[in-house]
Amino acid sequence: MIRVAILISGSGSNMLRLVEDMTGDHPARPVLVASNEPAAGGLAKAAALGIATLAVDHRDFPRDRPGFEAALLRPLLDTRPDIICLAGFMRILTPGFVDRFAGRMLNIHPSLLPKYPGLDTHARAIAAGDTEAGATVHLVTSELDSGPILGQARVPVLKDDTPQSLAARVLTQEHRLYPAVLRRFSAGDKTPVMLGSEGLVRGS
Ligand code: GRF
Repeated sequence: MIRVAILISGSGSNMLRLVEDMTGDHPARPVLVASNEPAAGGLAKAAALGIATLAVDHRDFPRDRPGFEAALLRPLLDTRPDIICLAGFMRILTPGFVDRFAGRMLNIHPSLLPKYPGLDTHARAIAAGDTEAGATVHLVTSELDSGPILGQARVPVLKDDTPQSLAARVLTQEHRLYPAVLRRFSAGDKTPVMLGSEGLVRGS
């Protein structure tokens, strides 16, 4: 069985979809949900599903990323994860931490990378007049939001969209994309999953 640890910072809606999908013939199971935010709503949701949880407050390590990461790493490694999923985890990890999990740490980002790495992706897509937006699941490398792509989901940008309405439409697709990618990746298949508004794109 493939062991998956999930790192979150917020409500954990992506985390929940991953956990709900890791049942039956799925090759993987969740072993830990960890957060840098002790008050993250997703921690209580994971605990309610009987999954081990961990909170390491980054504020206890002001201007000390290595210290924060060392405090997170010890209990994380105790769960012997094969795969790490970043799901709305908002801390930038150091190259040392990333390299330790090279090729087996995934992240979901709310844009069609390589467009709009970083923050405010929906506002930037609308400001640029894009007709399409979406989300990307990629392998994490030491360059922010830029590792090999494992999947993308596309949505239309509507003329009266606000960043909030677009974010909601993209999040719905994220909830389909991330479980599809993790299921394929944990079976050893890195072929990208491509989702259009109408579902799985042929040949992906
Ligand atoms: C998602 O839009 C994800 O792409 C971004 O943060 C948001 C987290 O949502 N990185 P949730 O915490 O999974 O609900």
